[in-house]
Amino acid sequence: MELTPMAPKCGVEISGVSLANCSDAEMDSIKQAIYNHGVAVFRDQEFSPEEHIRFGKRWGGIDINNYFPLQKDFHEIAVVKKEADQQTNIGGDWHTDHSYDQIPAMGSVLVARELPPSGGDTMWAHMGAAYDALPAEVKAEIEGLEAFHTADHIYKADGLYAQTDMGKNLRGQDLKTGAVHPVVIRHPHTGRKLLYVNKAFTIHFVGQTREQSLPLLQRLYDAALTGDNQCRLQWQPGTIAIWDNRTTWHNALNDYQGHRREMHRITLSGEALAA
Ligand code: SIN
Repeated sequence: MELTPMAPKCGVEISGVSLANCSDAEMDSIKQAIYNHGVAVFRDQEFSPEEHIRFGKRWGGIDINNYFPLQKDFHEIAVVKKEADQQTNIGGDWHTDHSYDQIPAMGSVLVARELPPSGGDTMWAHMGAAYDALPAEVKAEIEGLEAFHTADHIYKADGLYAQTDMGKNLRGQDLKTGAVHPVVIRHPHTGRKLLYVNKAFTIHFVGQTREQSLPLLQRLYDAALTGDNQCRLQWQPGTIAIWDNRTTWHNALNDYQGHRREMHRITLSGEALAA
């Protein structure tokens, strides 16, 4: 296997391995690379739905997505799609999947099934590099803080997605979510400190109102996207990306109006997060 960084502080492209048939030793190296770099990209892969599911189970459990359409006959696979006549895409702004769960999903295995002729790239930002770059006084201010996360304002029947042409595809609009996590977590496998707030799902700091929390949250969001902590993936047929939700934010760019894009996503179970 050969590992080539995608950017100085985020992402790695891994070649010389077939994900559907990789050995346990290769799997261990892939996991370690993803924990460190945040996201790994694999080109020219063949992944049937069965192989996608088998590969996901090698990480531990699979979390079945509560909101997105599921693939017929393979309910472990969520369909992340935008039709040619739709305006809104799924995940079209910076976010961390599942931070609104008590035990957030570890990450995702995303397979490109149908791509627009151009555009539709995905970006990731490394939250370890974001934390490292914070000024010392901000690090001191957020040490020991916890934040409340929920997805209700996005997915519920009158939420953000329901007000768009994405709303009709959603399931689970009556669910209630909510979880408290440290603002700075330690990666469960590497021990690295990571900034763990995101503007899609983090609502307020514990013990503060939304209004009191917003100035510092906004400073953290701005800081999380400055510097060289981002990478960008141009998808091709056969590309698979696997990312770590604890280590990264991601953003699916919505710049391919008039074209269809369909991706298949398996969400990998995670573990409780700690400071
Ligand atoms: C997502 O999981 O947020 C969507 C990623 C993508 O479609 O590139």
